[in-house]
Amino acid sequence: MTETVEYRGLRFVPYITADKIAERIGELARQIEADTKSTNPLFICVLNGAFPFAADLFREVKIPGAEITFIRLRSYEGTQSSGHVKEIVGLTESVKGREVIVIEDIVDTGRTIAGLVSDLKSQSPASLRVATLLFKPDAVKADDFHPDYIGFSIPNKFIIGFGLDIDGLARNLKDIYVVEE
Ligand code: IMP
Ligand code: MG
Repeated sequence: MTETVEYRGLRFVPYITADKIAERIGELARQIEADTKSTNPLFICVLNGAFPFAADLFREVKIPGAEITFIRLRSYEGTQSSGHVKEIVGLTESVKGREVIVIEDIVDTGRTIAGLVSDLKSQSPASLRVATLLFKPDAVKADDFHPDYIGFSIPNKFIIGFGLDIDGLARNLKDIYVVEE
């Protein structure tokens, strides 16, 4: 992995290799296995960006009764001054009484995940944890939200690949790239 890639006139350089990602996902899976108390936890993958991470993480977690489902977050303009509100789309399973693990691609400002977590908590899961592949600690603002499982803490720079996009592109890159400064 030595080549740079170009999208939308921006140049991106290799940042985290597919091998490193796979290794880290294995470690996260071991942590999740150790922390999971129920035999039937529900993993919730937040589309679109988290799908490669969710696919790899879920297959690494050796819990026979584990289930996975997929949601999207739809943004709409709130009528109040709070601005953008995000609504959960596609959650058909009941989370009530279940051990839930949300799988996200990246927590940047934390606004997306903070909203999702409070929505899900209102549906009374037994417990709710968040696994994110990437975390930008310098960018976090929303209620000091801190994920339970973090793949990589990264500086506040724009990255693509392994599910992360620029205008819908670059999700299919196997490695993660960072914008060149
Ligand atoms: P939030 O700021 O934590 O609410 O993150 C919102 C969304 O911004 C994430 O789910 C990603 O889709 C996107 N995002 C944040 N940082 C990056 C990045 O570096 N590359 C690609 N997408 C990003
Ligand atoms: Mg996303």
